[in-house]
Amino acid sequence: MGVCAIYEHFSGFELFRLPNIVHALPHAGNANCWTANTNEAHGDKMNIIEDRPTTEEFIGLITDVGWDKYTNLKVLDQALKNSLYCVVARNNNGEAVGMGRLVGDGVRSVYFQDIIIKKKHQRQGIGSKIMDKLFDWINANCPNKTYLHLFTDKTTAGFYARYGFSGPESPFFGMSQKKFSKKLGKLKK
Ligand SMILES: CC(C)(COP(=O)(O)OP(=O)(O)OC[C@H]1O[C@@H](n2cnc3c(N)ncnc32)[C@H](O)[C@@H]1OP(=O)(O)O)[C@@H](O)C(=O)NCCC(=O)NCCS
Repeated sequence: MGVCAIYEHFSGFELFRLPNIVHALPHAGNANCWTANTNEAHGDKMNIIEDRPTTEEFIGLITDVGWDKYTNLKVLDQALKNSLYCVVARNNNGEAVGMGRLVGDGVRSVYFQDIIIKKKHQRQGIGSKIMDKLFDWINANCPNKTYLHLFTDKTTAGFYARYGFSGPESPFFGMSQKKFSKKLGKLKK
């Protein structure tokens, strides 16, 4: 099925709502699919889709950013299935170039897991689009006082600070924030 409606325009991204896209995520909110046109260096039109990557694609993403060294690749199929919510970014060719997912109980604790953009597609705004989608889901589904967690290192802490995360100064630390009634997402400059 094709694009049925232009939904929103902002920041150079064109978002479209696609009808009746089936995905098997449990408790994943609506099953709509979204298209983001990055207009970026590689000229790829990126589709930010509420869906899981395949397990092979997940391994490919993890390997691309060098996390395969400390990841148990055998559990990734189950890990994907246990996601609360997952989005995958695909380019024009259907290649999975990025992903992000949420895990947890969805009401007291939600963890940002596997926010990954392939190296050659980084700094094109794709990670931000994925974060926006994750926060859309949180804003729509999580009650007040839900704890939001993630682990990162200092080199990428700035990316998450833009979304309100904060953490102590140490080489490797957790970052968290609480959701109250106010909508969350990227902090205004
Ligand atoms: C971190 C990551 C998810 C960011 O995704 P991205 O698509 O490259 O980020 P965006 O293009 O949306 O970045 C938007 C802004 O966030 C900030 N930002 C992005 N990456 C950053 C980084 N590594 N450090 C600090 N700020 C960063 C910048 O302000 C950037 O704007 P700019 O490009 O105009 O300077 C991606 O680089 C990645 O997958 N890295 C490897 C895996 C990883 O480390 N994941 C996070 C740990 S859990």
